[in-house]
Amino acid sequence: MPGTSIYLDNAATSFPKPACVYDAMDRYHRESGAAVGRGAYRQAVEVQGEVDRCRQRVAQLFNAESPQRIIFTFNCTDSLNLAIHGVLRPGDHVITSVLEHNSVLRPLHELEREGRIELTLIPVDAAGVVNPDDFRNAVRPNTRLIALTHASNVTGAIQPCAEVGQIARAAGIIYLIDAAQTAGHLPIDVRALSADMLACPGHKALMGPLGTGLLYIRPGIENELRSVRQGGTGTRSEVEFQPATMPDKYEAGNHNAPGLIGLSAALKWRMEQPQGALEAHEQKMLEHLLNGLKSIPGVEIHGLQTTAGRVGVVSISLADQDPQIVATLLDQVAQVQVRSGLHCAPGAHRSLGTLERGGTVRFSIGAFTTTSEVDLALDALRQLAESL
Ligand SMILES: Cc1ncc(COP(=O)(O)O)c(C=O)c1O
Repeated sequence: MPGTSIYLDNAATSFPKPACVYDAMDRYHRESGAAVGRGAYRQAVEVQGEVDRCRQRVAQLFNAESPQRIIFTFNCTDSLNLAIHGVLRPGDHVITSVLEHNSVLRPLHELEREGRIELTLIPVDAAGVVNPDDFRNAVRPNTRLIALTHASNVTGAIQPCAEVGQIARAAGIIYLIDAAQTAGHLPIDVRALSADMLACPGHKALMGPLGTGLLYIRPGIENELRSVRQGGTGTRSEVEFQPATMPDKYEAGNHNAPGLIGLSAALKWRMEQPQGALEAHEQKMLEHLLNGLKSIPGVEIHGLQTTAGRVGVVSISLADQDPQIVATLLDQVAQVQVRSGLHCAPGAHRSLGTLERGGTVRFSIGAFTTTSEVDLALDALRQLAESL
């Protein structure tokens, strides 16, 4: 039932979205319905204009060199697959971390199994953070790609992406950042991070709808990055091959027009908020959540224990209880929606020692999380802990 549940699974996808997102998508569906970049009639031109504005807003948010450096995809997995399969060639070496989501690890493991690449996985320290020196030491003559998550989707720990970026840039290695858990939560400056590519979803903290994703591509990297999908772009249709121009090179086929209309509205909403207000609110909710979790007997917080150096993703265990059962009971008893299991990041759980225990229970806050929601979730968990 809308309004009765407590949604603390924002790391999976944000909910609710700002009201303007629903309004913009509803208006598009009822009054337009036109495809992007495919027509000269008024509705088609208007949709194209809104998608252009969406690209501009993302470019501004990430300090990209121009809107053409932003590619629209269908989720972060889609962006990461384009980046990985697009740059790697047989014989390449790749460095990544044990923390990565399966949307990085699985494409890399597939390529490794086929004997096409060599792979080095960098471990984490007790706080769940990689050491940039490990990346420097792992570089080989054939290292072509370093891929690193900006923050763990299991513990929320922010990774030293700018430092690793400097190492990659100095060594002439292509650098890919997975910003799935940070875009919209932290300020992102692709140039300060030395990112060659940065992948993120539109549907998590950027507050757009599901079915939206982004890939930033630094000027010149398009010469290294093949298109992995070819097809119609609505431009230069007489040419036999995929256009080499940005963003058409990577945007074959129809866009998710309603999704991008919603994402554009979400970005406009974000830009209208007072500077730093969303981040400050999330930090406050995170602090409240962490303090509450620490006060419940039997709760073990995995990874960082403080608000510093992390985003609002917190993994816990409750005594020796199965995380799946804890999450199910939280929902059944108090309609608290959290995520249990391995969160598609087995290496993160292996390093936490939670892989064999079936993972953790993950609480993740968002822009609309309230103090009373956090309190209700904590009360439910406390009652569960006392009933054991
Ligand atoms: C760190 C990380 N990378 C990638 C993804 C994949 O994102 P998407 O669901 O948009 O494909 C997720 C999703 O949870 C994630 O947490």
